[in-house]
Amino acid sequence: MAPPDKGAAAFLYPPTSNNIEFFAQALRAGALVAIPTETVYGLAANADLPSACRAVFMIKGRPLLDPLIVHFADLAQVAHYAVLTPTARTVAERFWPGPLTMVLQKTARTDSLITAGRDTVAVRMPAHPVAQQLIAAAGIPLAAPSANPFGYVSPTTAQHVVDSFGAAVPFVIDGGPTHIGIESTILDLSQPEQPRILRPGAISAEAIAACIDVPVAASASPARRPGQAALAPGTLESHYCPNTPLHLVSPGSLPPPAPTHARIFLKRPLAPQPTDFWFSESGQLTDIAHHLFALLRQLDRADFSALYCELPPATGIGIAIRDRLRRAAAKFR
Ligand code: TXA
Ligand code: MG
Repeated sequence: MAPPDKGAAAFLYPPTSNNIEFFAQALRAGALVAIPTETVYGLAANADLPSACRAVFMIKGRPLLDPLIVHFADLAQVAHYAVLTPTARTVAERFWPGPLTMVLQKTARTDSLITAGRDTVAVRMPAHPVAQQLIAAAGIPLAAPSANPFGYVSPTTAQHVVDSFGAAVPFVIDGGPTHIGIESTILDLSQPEQPRILRPGAISAEAIAACIDVPVAASASPARRPGQAALAPGTLESHYCPNTPLHLVSPGSLPPPAPTHARIFLKRPLAPQPTDFWFSESGQLTDIAHHLFALLRQLDRADFSALYCELPPATGIGIAIRDRLRRAAAKFR
């Protein structure tokens, strides 16, 4: 029997309790399952099975040097895989479950394939009920990168996963569009006295600093180009990248409309042209984040020769949106 066409709806499974039980068992046995989280969809594997984790790298085309985030359902489980310092516990109690990943010292239980040989591991407790139920039912943590081919725009719907992987990822749980729309904030707490944001997200450096009463370095380490000496996790200059050239401008500075150019406004313009698009009706930053990747994917599938896009202000989640847009546009500069 031939596999269904790429994009066939047959790949999407609703999160019924029967399906969650089935996929929990499948994950335990080593299958890969694409799962909804509140940030983006993840491509999940049993974190205790190196063979399953290796398959995640292969399907994504991800370098083995780029470590994975491990997802948990409860704090007791985290303690088997990472060293929970008092600071880490304070942060976990305040922000978990939620869109925050902590980089902590790993324990012997965490396989070095997941951490790309590092002595730290990235851990997170997602807030999405389907992710929580699945991890709890499986009884094992799930290693899960975003469910997109390495370097491409992250998926915020189940259909995005099918669009990218087709039959290569036959198990996709459809939990609807993700709520936040951009990946979790990554906080490096491996040196608790020097907390550092490695990737901005919905939870800000200020909110974390207020919680632990220690300043949090907000800037990621300098971006590196692919292939440069050591791959600095999460800091690749080019990432989240459409195939259509993307150019960024400040608000109000989009070029005049042209038939082969899409113009992306932060909010609905007063008199939109046929080639005009917008992230949000209101221009609210959380709304822009929610629609960011879906619109980039939609326009990348259309026949435009270039995309021009307004950059939001660098406040709140705008910092994370700018980070993603800058990386998405980096290779077209
Ligand atoms: O919101 C999210 O975090 C989503 C959902 C699925 O949970 N996951 C996600 O995973 O964005 P991924 O693999 O696309 O991005 C994880 C980032 C990578 O840039 C990786 O280099 C970094 O986390 N990372 C993982 N382990 C690390 C470590 N030990 N030290 C520093 N960075 C690490
Ligand atoms: Mg990713």
